[in-house]
Amino acid sequence: MTQVAIFETVSAMRAAVAGWHAAGEKVALVPTMGALHAGHIALVTEAQRHARRVIVSIFVNPTQFAPHEDFKKYPRTFDNDRALLAEANADAIFYPSVEEMYPAGFATRILLLGPAAVGLDDRFRPTHFEGVATVCCKLFTQSRADYAVFGEKDYQQLKVVTRMAADLDLGIEIVPLPTFREPDGLAMSSRNRYLSAEDRERAPLLHKVMQELAARLRNGEDLFKAVAEAQGEIISAGFELDYLEARHTQTLAPVTGLGDGPVRLLVAARLGATRLIDNIAV
Ligand code: PAF
Repeated sequence: MTQVAIFETVSAMRAAVAGWHAAGEKVALVPTMGALHAGHIALVTEAQRHARRVIVSIFVNPTQFAPHEDFKKYPRTFDNDRALLAEANADAIFYPSVEEMYPAGFATRILLLGPAAVGLDDRFRPTHFEGVATVCCKLFTQSRADYAVFGEKDYQQLKVVTRMAADLDLGIEIVPLPTFREPDGLAMSSRNRYLSAEDRERAPLLHKVMQELAARLRNGEDLFKAVAEAQGEIISAGFELDYLEARHTQTLAPVTGLGDGPVRLLVAARLGATRLIDNIAV
């Protein structure tokens, strides 16, 4: 177990990264909002495969939450996060304040098109990706990391950030990692801890329905019919469904069949006040 350095300022992080780079060491960033779980630790392990040094940022980013969303009650578990990261041998935590990230007068946002404007999460959270892209752009340029590792669970986010990093020549390679799941198939998420015991039991159905849908599509069933039936199954199980859609894996554009693919299934649904998202390849 190592001692994890904690940087609260951009200048402290940059000084460390400059030293590592001067020593010929690559640096990987794992951006998080804390409340870490095994899925985050898998991102750290993946980062360590790419780079000698790994920084994990912990910042609950206010600009990606709408006023009615859970910014205030988003779980903040820094002491536990720090212990998990020490155990995982991360080198440093970037733990800035809101003022460090958004000083008085901050007035810039990134305008996103492409995978950020396809009618999936952007339809239900219209300002979300603008906030994600803005903070990620800042984290990438603040850290000057060589790699940033993102989980596939937030699939649209992964596509948005990958596009932005390429389009803005940010000089960082975005590394994707498949979704980490609980033994019953539920995608790991910091928000799972909000679920009541009853909803936690129901939640894995999302993944099960998606797996069955993927199998039906691979068997050549009609996409519109199979997707509509899967949507119905989720609603009948008591979820409030935002969307369940089949999209092109890269562009996230709608598809009419596997011939338009490769195809990815993406879902967002609510159980009580908890919004769950998931996706799988067909
Ligand atoms: O996926 C998340 O936890 C957040 O959206 C991210 C990438 C850390 C940006 O705040």
